[in-house]
Amino acid sequence: MSRELYDRAVAISERAYAPYSNYLVGAAVRTRDGKVFEGVNVENAAYPLGVCAEKTALVKAVSEGYKPGDIAAIGITASPCGGCRQWLYEFGIEEITFLNSAGELVTYSAADLLPDTWDLPA
Ligand code: THU
Repeated sequence: MSRELYDRAVAISERAYAPYSNYLVGAAVRTRDGKVFEGVNVENAAYPLGVCAEKTALVKAVSEGYKPGDIAAIGITASPCGGCRQWLYEFGIEEITFLNSAGELVTYSAADLLPDTWDLPA
């Protein structure tokens, strides 16, 4: 459980660009070698083009050279959407911490959040 990553996600969420939903989301990922990358949701007037906070944080990490398997944990201010769960699964993240609808800070693995996951056929 990473309270620290969740707190960093809350702090960064104020930078979200979400003029259409007014729903500010923050995410903070920690790499296995201890680096933290933060991200926010970025919306667009063409609504489907918006990007979730989790993706922003992961894209930043990948841009700096990290790959699936290199990300240990993520804290998010929202329960991750279905599409982001697929992204979290791709990266094999073992600790995903967010506030659930009951207001409790919970931690799951990517596999917990997406059981019997689709994958490319071998
Ligand atoms: N959002 C995220 O950033 N992450 C999620 O996992 C849930 C949804 C954003 C997308 C959109 O900008 C806003 O929240 C409302 O759906």
